[in-house]
Amino acid sequence: MSKQSNITVLDHPVVSRDLSILRDKTTDIVEFRTAMARVATILAYTSLKELPLQETSIETPITQTRGYRIDTDIIVVPILRAGLTLVDAIMNFIPDAKVGHLGMYRDETTHEPVDYYSNLPDGISDGLVLLVDPMLATGGSADDAIGYLKKQGAKQIRFTSLISAPEGIQRITEKYPDVSIITAAVDKNLNDDAFIVPGLGDAGDRYFGTT
Ligand code: PRP
Repeated sequence: MSKQSNITVLDHPVVSRDLSILRDKTTDIVEFRTAMARVATILAYTSLKELPLQETSIETPITQTRGYRIDTDIIVVPILRAGLTLVDAIMNFIPDAKVGHLGMYRDETTHEPVDYYSNLPDGISDGLVLLVDPMLATGGSADDAIGYLKKQGAKQIRFTSLISAPEGIQRITEKYPDVSIITAAVDKNLNDDAFIVPGLGDAGDRYFGTT
């Protein structure tokens, strides 16, 4: 794993193998979903690093010892639709995490995000907000989502993506230096249609079986 300023890029053979499965255009929907689930688990684990802990006292069958509980509320916020692919992995680690939804799609011509839905739980100003979307391309969607979450009071935000373009990373790190980014890969660039190169195509379409 490499960490530069507030960006963490996964570096693990299992992730390299699964990213290859996800990028391959001949991968079918079953393989795509299972590979996504595996990488999502590692992304979730990494996104949950450095959480505040509260000490507790527990009794093992042998003796009394120190235990820990996570001392912050966690709110997962997927950017619909594709962000849904990363939610279950976080909920597996944090079964009481609340989930907020932000509906956004990228206009195919302007490449600008279009908002169509928002439903956030109470408490986003006090907890850690994990914003998730597998693709960080121009960064327009993440930029809008982070701006909205901040306006709603969020103070601690981490953004988790599967594949990121340098353009998106630059936009988010420059505008929101307090938001850390966790990603499995930083790709080369964007093409004229603002698709990530080499990327994997449209994550939402491939995961949900739409075109
Ligand atoms: C994709 C992706 C991100 C966005 C990334 O969503 O899941 O939300 O585009 O692009 P950006 O960084 O340039 O904003 P899409 O519009 O395909 O919607 P979907 O999730 O419903 O498939």
